[in-house]
Formats: sequence, structure tokens, C-alpha cells
Amino acid sequence: MQQPDEVATDARQRLRPAGIAFGGDYNPEQWPEEVWAEDVALMKEAGVSLVTAGIFSWAKVEPRPGEFDFAWSDRVMDNLAGAGVAVCLATMTASPPPWLSRLHPEILPETADGRRMWPGGRQHYCPSSGVYRRYATRLVEQLATRYADHPALEMWHIGNEYGCHTPMCWCDGSAADFRRWLSDRYGDIGALNDAWSTAFWSQGYDSFDEVLPPRLAPTFPNPGQQLDFARFSDDALLQCYLAEKEVLRRITPDVPVTTNFIGVHKPVDAFRWAAEQDVVSVDVYQDPHDHDTHIAAGFIFDVTRSARGGRPWMLMEQAPSAVNWRDRNGPKPPGRMRLWSWQAIAQGADAVLYFQWRQSRGGAEKYHSAMLPHGGTETRTFREVRELGRELASVPQIAGARSTAEVALVLDWNSWWALELDSHPSTALDQMNIALAHYRPLFEAGITCDVVPPDRDLSGYRLVVVPNLYLIRERDAERLTDFVRGGGHLLVSFFSGVVDECDRVHPGGYPAPLREVLGLHVEEFWPPAERETVNVRHRDGTVSGADLWSEVVVPESAETVAVFDSGALTGQPAVTRHAFGEGSAWYVATRLAPRAMRNLMDEVRDTAGVGPVVTGLPEQVQATVREGDGGRFVFLLNHGREQVEVGLPEPMSDLLTQGTAPSDRIRLPGAGVAVLSTPWTRHTKGQR
Ligand code: GAL
Repeated sequence: MQQPDEVATDARQRLRPAGIAFGGDYNPEQWPEEVWAEDVALMKEAGVSLVTAGIFSWAKVEPRPGEFDFAWSDRVMDNLAGAGVAVCLATMTASPPPWLSRLHPEILPETADGRRMWPGGRQHYCPSSGVYRRYATRLVEQLATRYADHPALEMWHIGNEYGCHTPMCWCDGSAADFRRWLSDRYGDIGALNDAWSTAFWSQGYDSFDEVLPPRLAPTFPNPGQQLDFARFSDDALLQCYLAEKEVLRRITPDVPVTTNFIGVHKPVDAFRWAAEQDVVSVDVYQDPHDHDTHIAAGFIFDVTRSARGGRPWMLMEQAPSAVNWRDRNGPKPPGRMRLWSWQAIAQGADAVLYFQWRQSRGGAEKYHSAMLPHGGTETRTFREVRELGRELASVPQIAGARSTAEVALVLDWNSWWALELDSHPSTALDQMNIALAHYRPLFEAGITCDVVPPDRDLSGYRLVVVPNLYLIRERDAERLTDFVRGGGHLLVSFFSGVVDECDRVHPGGYPAPLREVLGLHVEEFWPPAERETVNVRHRDGTVSGADLWSEVVVPESAETVAVFDSGALTGQPAVTRHAFGEGSAWYVATRLAPRAMRNLMDEVRDTAGVGPVVTGLPEQVQATVREGDGGRFVFLLNHGREQVEVGLPEPMSDLLTQGTAPSDRIRLPGAGVAVLSTPWTRHTKGQR
């Protein structure tokens, strides 16, 4: 029998609007009340089932310190409840009201060079500020008490995009909090000196009181200090979130909580944060001017799904059409908003929401598109929104279904922070670019991929891809080694396994903890000059380009699969393969050109016996599967502009074009989507 706490946990993990939730940020405080009735009427017309309200309402509900005015938000909540629209209610703490920074200027954040960030935008608070947290939790207490039993309340949206504008703060308050955090981490100053290698450059500390955040310094600040400051800053933001969550749990234990990630955001470790959320949500703004935007978005969606072990997640924000914050803000051409919304669902989302419901008349985001544009309902955007709302409502059975992956790509925030520190062999290594270069060939081949931290259980995967894991803990290296020993296949790329948790080089020659599994060592790093390319000769005699990085690889028991074919390292290994235990471990010592990377990944996948959901997929077509109580669904998405035909293993019909006869060929126009309901199981090549 379930214990009461488990029941509560289960209830919190459900998105309660039936089917795929649809809606957006609702900011009624920007409008006179006469508009509100029209809002809910049009929401119904557009198929809106969930809105997220109140994100920037602090100044409105608490116009003066301690004076709360919820009368207007009561009416908003009542209107929405009356219309059957559920509310993901924000805790309203994302943008402190002007009175708070006038009363307490010490809450304002400071940059590394000591400049204060003033009010006038948003998110102008120091994450370590106890004063900010005190006022924020006081407001949350009032809100939670007020709306605990309101029929519209479905979930809580804590803060908003933590770390979007103020991921770090270097003020005196942060300095004091950093010292406390360090003292908890290290216990005594000797341990900190050791971790930070302070014997170098006469940096030895005598007490925690001497330690500062890495403020503007004459040259490279201590790398250990910088790395710990990244950890600390992530933690300070998380503490803000947790302080609010604690109030909500106390007052509304059965109401699920979430906070929206900004894509995959360096300052916020999504894997740590996800564990503190009932439902994970993310904001993704695909760029219509970027031909590959869906691949980068696909990566974010896979991180979001994997962050909570595959549970359905929410696309909390996307633009109905253009944004206002890039240099050139292109609208989404017809069909793209639908396609990219379906992409989120195909990759595991159970909610498609937008920023925002009604386009603002004033303020910094008046040129940002909205579900209901300045032009009203007779607009392409509103028509497309309404059409999508109708379409999503027609397939409620998809909600709750999950996908399984045979491939995992490893991403680690600690390593990301360390990799991109200064004073390295090259400053050109960008964690996201490297990760995407490894994700793309999987995405393009129609392979579902989880993105996991290195301490996740890997036993369910056939192939693990490690684009770069510069910082590695011994136990994680052992986990990767055991994975291969037991029959898994591993692909690791350059500059991995180099340092420990304190950014100190692992003794024993690079990459010491991975030497055994990779069957090699690396003697020297050899980054090419900017824009320099090198040739790589593959086993079949073909030659491809590479850039960004190279290194002197000395095989021990690994075999060489490709060699450098130009430049200083001519003839030396560029790619190796090591038969180890029951599996194999591949190493890539450079950034291969995309075509060569695709060939290599195909070969490694073949060895691992990992095949696509649908074989023979046309270029630009994405294919995924979700499976649950409502059935098994194959999603086909054409990211190209031209019509294509996809061959299926048996006749099937598209749920989105009800009434058409089953066929074993599906025609997808440019930006087209099909959702096939099928008992058919996916094609895999052989068993591990
Ligand atoms: C997000 C933010 C929203 C809105 C949106 C515009 O970063 O959470 O409040 O500003 O961007 O694209």
C-alpha cells in the first residue's frame, strides 16, 4: 500500500490538465480589466488549458512593503477557473518591486569589477541576499495561503528563469556567503589551500576571512577559486528556489512545483535542479534564421527529458513567432511553430506553452510575438495557434507516454565550468559546440539519445558518448570503464579525463583515469591555430578535414582507426578503437568535419547494435517514439522545406489526418508532422 507521502508525490508528478497542456504566460496586470473577459473567451477559442500567471506581478500585489492586494489576482484566478483554464501560478519573485531596492539597496547585485546593477530591468537581486529571500518568502507565504484551495491552481511556477540575467554576484554579501559555503565544503583552510593549489603565486590563505569571490584581478584568477565560485553561484540560486519551495510544500503539499530552465544554461546545473522539481520545464526559443536550430533545440529537449529520468516535461515558453531580443528577429514561417511544438512533444513534452498570451502594448517586449498579436484574431499567428490547440486536443492519449534510448550522451556541469576556464591550451573549446557536434550525427540518423550526468546508471545503454569530460571524478571514470568491460560501447573525444574535481591534473599521464579503458595515453596537446584545419586519413583511404584541437596520442593496446594526414602530427593517431572486456572504447583526438563525424558515429553505432526508429529516413526528417498506456506513437517531423516520403515497415495511419487509409508510405510536406499509432516495435540491430 502506498504511504501518504508517496500518494502526494504521485499526485505532484502528474500534469493535471488532461492530454497535452496548451497555453502560455498570462500577464493580465498589463491590461485594463475590460480586456480580461475577452482574454478568457479567446483562450477557450484557442484551446488553452493552462496558463502561467503572475510572473512579474510582485509590485502589483505588494505595492508597499507588507501591504498585500490580491483583489485583482482573485478576479483573474476566478475568471480562469470559471473558464476551466488551469493556472500554473508564479511565485511573483522574479523582479523585485522598486520599493525593495530603495529600502534595501544591498540586495542589488554587483559585477566582478564592482559595478552595481540597478533596478529598471528585471532580476536585479543578489542571489545570496538574505533580505531578498526574506521578502520573497514572505510574499510566497501570502500567495500560497491565499490560493491553496483555489480551483484554478494546478501547479506553482517558482521564480522565473533563474540565472538568466544575474547568474553570479560579486558583492560583499556574496563574498560573505561564499566564505560560509567554502567553510562548509572544506572544513579548514588547509583543505581549501590544497584544493585551490594556492602554493602557486603566493596565494596561501591563513583564514576563510581572507577569501574573496574571483573579482577583477590583474591576471587569471585562481582556477580552483573560479570553479568553486561557479558551483557556489549555482547553489545560491538553488537556495533561492528551495526557500520558496519550502514554503509552498508546507502550505500546499499536493501542488506540484516547477521552475523554467533557460534552455541548457551554463550557470544552472539542470541535473541537480531537476531533482528538486515535480515536473521539469524549459524555455526554448528556436531561431527561424538558423537552419540547424531544431538540432540545438533537440539537444535541450533531450536534456530536459533526461533530467528527470524520462518523465514527461513542459515546454514552458517558446515564441509563437518572432522574439525581440536577437539582433535580427525573424518570424516563424508558416508551419514552423507547429512543427517545433510537435518536436517538443515528440521528445517527451506533455505541455506546449508560449511567452506570452497577449502581445504587450508597452515595455521592452512589445515586439515579441504573442499568441494573440497586436493585430488580434485575424492574424496568421492566432490562426496557427488556434489550429494547433485544436490538433493537440484531438490526441490526449499521447500524454504520459515515454521514450527509451539506447544511447546516452554525457554532460557534466562541473566539467563544463572547468573546461571553459581561462589559461588553457586553447580558449576555443566551447562545451555546447562540442556536445552538439556529437549529438548532431545521432539526431540526423534518427537515434533517440538521453543526455545524462556521468554518475547516472549506464547499464541500460548500448552506447555512451562522451563529447568532452575534461574534469572527471575517479569513480565516474570507473563507471565508464565498467560499462565497457560489461559489453557497452564508448566514444570519448579529446581533452577528456584530464583534471580532478579541483581542476588539478590527474597524475599518471593524460587521461589517467581513462587510460585503461581507452588503451592509450596522450602525450601533448596540440591545438591548431585559429582557422587552421588538418587532414585526417580514414581506414578506407578517404581524407576528411578536422579543426579546433589535436593531440599526440600514444596507443597502448588501442588500434588506430584514422591518422592525421597533414600538419605537425602527420601519421599519428586521430581516432582509435580499443577492444576492452566485452565492449569497445573509441577515442577521437580532434574535431572531425561533420560528414566524417557522422560516418564515425554510424560505425560506432553499428558496432553497438543501435539502429534508428525508422530506417532509410530522408534527410532532415526526425523520427522518435513514445510509448505509454495510451499506445505507442511514432513521430515523424520534416525539418526541411521540401516534401518527402517516408517508407514504413507496415501500413499505418496518421493520427493527425484522421480518416486517411493506412499506408506504408507517408508523405510529409516541408515542415510537416505525422503521428503514427502503432504496435510495431523498433528496429534494432542485434543484441549486445
Ligand atoms: C524569457 C522570459 C520571459 C520573456 C521571454 C521573451 O527569457 O522568461 O519572461 O522575457 O524570455 O522571449
